[in-house]
Amino acid sequence: MKILIAYFSRTGFTEKLIYKVKEILESKGNSISIEKIQSMSKDTCLGEICKDVHHYPLIFLSLFSKSWRKRYIAAYTQIEEDIGPLQYSDVSDFDMICVGGPKWAHVSYPVARYLREVRGLEGKRIGAVYTFGGPPLPVFELETMKESMNRIVKGRGASIVAHLGISSAYHELGIIPLFRIMSRIRFCKSIDYFKSGSDFSDKLTREFCDSLLTKGT
Ligand SMILES: Cc1cc2nc3c(=O)[nH]c(=O)nc-3n(C[C@H](O)[C@H](O)[C@H](O)COP(=O)(O)O)c2cc1C
Repeated sequence: MKILIAYFSRTGFTEKLIYKVKEILESKGNSISIEKIQSMSKDTCLGEICKDVHHYPLIFLSLFSKSWRKRYIAAYTQIEEDIGPLQYSDVSDFDMICVGGPKWAHVSYPVARYLREVRGLEGKRIGAVYTFGGPPLPVFELETMKESMNRIVKGRGASIVAHLGISSAYHELGIIPLFRIMSRIRFCKSIDYFKSGSDFSDKLTREFCDSLLTKGT
C-alpha cells in the first residue's frame, strides 16, 4: 500500500514512535511517505497550555461520568494553531494515512489544523498515533485522545481504523514525578514499563501496524 504518515512532534517523542511505525510498515512491503507538520507557534509549553486551560476543570470533571464525558467531548471546541506549508496538501493518492502527534489535553493544535486543512481526506482509513506524558490511563489519556481524534476525523468524512497511544514518560512542565505515582497506584507498575521503547510499547506498535494493514485493505 501507498501510505502517508503525517505527524507533529514538539519535543521528539512522537517522532521517534512514528519512525518505529514507518520501519515496521516498510518491512511489510508498503511504500511510506512522510509529512512533518510544522507549527508556526513560538510559544512555550506554558503558553500552549494557557490557550486551553479554561477546559481543564471540565476535563477533570469528565473523568467521573461516562455519559457526561461523551457530551463534553462532543461539545469541546478544539484549539488549532497555524502550520507551515504542506508537502502533500492533497492526500487523495494515498491508500492510507497515519496521523501522529502528542496529546495536548486533547488533540495537539497543529494536528487539529492539519486535519482541517489537508485535502482529499474524505473516505480515507486512518491510523492515529499519539504520545502523552502520563501512564496509559484508560480514560484521561487513551479514551480522551481516541474520542477526540475520532470526532475530528469523522467530521472530515474519514474513519480511524486503528489507534496507538504510548506514554513518553515526559512532560515539559516537569510533572513526571506525579505521573510516576499515578502509574504505581493505578497499575502497580513503574511508568517505565509502558514508555516508548519498552517491550510493552513495541508490542502495541506491532499490533497497531498489523491492525492498520488488515483493516485498511
Ligand atoms: C500544551 C501541552 C499539553 C499537554 N497535555 C498533556 C496531557 O493532557 N496529558 C499528558 O499525559 N501529557 C500532556 N502533555 C505532554 C505531552 O503529551 C508529552 O510530553 C508528549 O509525549 C510529547 O510529544 P512530542 O515530544 O512528540 O512533542 C502536554 C504537553 C504540552 C506541550
